[in-house]
Amino acid sequence: MTTAAKCPVDHLNLVDPDTFVEGLPLAAFATMRDEAPVFWHDQPGSWGGGFWVVTRAEDVREVSRTPEVFSSYARGALLTMGDEADEELALAMTRELMLNMDPPAHGAYRNIVQRAFNPRTIRNLETRLQEFADEIVDRAIAKGEGDFVEDIAAELPLLAICELVGVPAEDRRRVFELSNTMVGFDDPELGGSPDAAQVAMAEMFGMADGLARAKEGCPGEDIISKLLAAETGSGALTPDQFAIFFVLLMVAGNETTRNAITHGMQAFFEHPDQWELFKAERPLDTAAEEIIRWASPIIQFQRCALSDYELGGQQISSGDRVVIYYSAANRDERGVERPDTFDIRRVENEHVAFGGGGPHFCLGANLARAEVRIIFDTIARKMPGIRPLADPRILRSNFVHGIKELRVSYDV
Ligand code: HEM
Repeated sequence: MTTAAKCPVDHLNLVDPDTFVEGLPLAAFATMRDEAPVFWHDQPGSWGGGFWVVTRAEDVREVSRTPEVFSSYARGALLTMGDEADEELALAMTRELMLNMDPPAHGAYRNIVQRAFNPRTIRNLETRLQEFADEIVDRAIAKGEGDFVEDIAAELPLLAICELVGVPAEDRRRVFELSNTMVGFDDPELGGSPDAAQVAMAEMFGMADGLARAKEGCPGEDIISKLLAAETGSGALTPDQFAIFFVLLMVAGNETTRNAITHGMQAFFEHPDQWELFKAERPLDTAAEEIIRWASPIIQFQRCALSDYELGGQQISSGDRVVIYYSAANRDERGVERPDTFDIRRVENEHVAFGGGGPHFCLGANLARAEVRIIFDTIARKMPGIRPLADPRILRSNFVHGIKELRVSYDV
């Protein structure tokens, strides 16, 4: 490890959530990509004493697409903040998540859950998403002003997953509260703590288990029944496995899309010419893709090397942890032209916000794209005069690039 490149930016701690409270450290990321695209970051007390930081798009893709070397299972895909004991606990709790599986077990599992996300299912869901979006935006207009995160961005992703999976209407509010507690644990203002997150996860797990058990013996045409019912040769989930999958969907599909939508709105506020263009031309597909790149709702994920490997001129040893920074790679001019320009008509947009390809590429990417398209189309149609009342307040997290509050006036 003695020859490993060091961080080219003094005193930058990528583990400390405070590093991200003013937004992504974009200038530091640029220096890293230019001067030390793969470097060793100390994390005293943790497994291996630290991890490799990967910031260029090409390297993020290489890691993502080489799962036989870069394992999600060995140390989990989530970078933990504490010491090795915390890591072991987190690992034990999240072992069953597909995010933390490796091939071939991962592929077998993914084949089953993919049933919930086939393109026809998502297309059919779009009509409901449009109805939800209309209701959400109408309610906001009636309110006059408020917090965009709570009134608009948080609603659609949650409703989408509940609708997809078949959560009864009366349980949806509780699901929303629980998912907030599970993700906001780094941010004391959100009432979060690791303990509260665990309690919330247990309750969510119980709810999902209840849903699955209710279908036992009386399967229908819904997704839960499809995931639980064995189809020839392709396996099925047990109620317990379904509950774990449900919890993952709530975390993976809720916060991410919520923040894509909020960052998208903020980007339009900061680039009024793009908002005018959006309203006039509605380039829905390219705009949604650009919003997601710009937002980069997931800052990073972790892997662990299973063998020695050279990456970006650095010698990675078997057992080393490697953290891929999607948020840095999405501003890499080697991957996207003029990456610091928010351009909703961008056609070549090979971003890595949904992952760098490979087996774990975001399962919900098409659903997320549909949600972003539909909500902005609806906002542009119903309240084109929407304007900010205050600066956004950023979530304190080294993992989710989030906005926790954005005060706006819902002008039509
Ligand atoms: C803009 C919104 C979203 C972003 C930025 C995002 C981002 C990501 C990323 C970076 C990964 C890991 C990719 C990798 O390791 O290669 C991932 C995986 C995943 N995402 Fe998303 N996601 C979003 C929306 C959603 C939605 C709406 C759902 C479901 C309702 C979802 C479900 C999942 C699942 C289940 C996985 C794990 C896949 C696996 O391990 O095979 N995501 N997502």
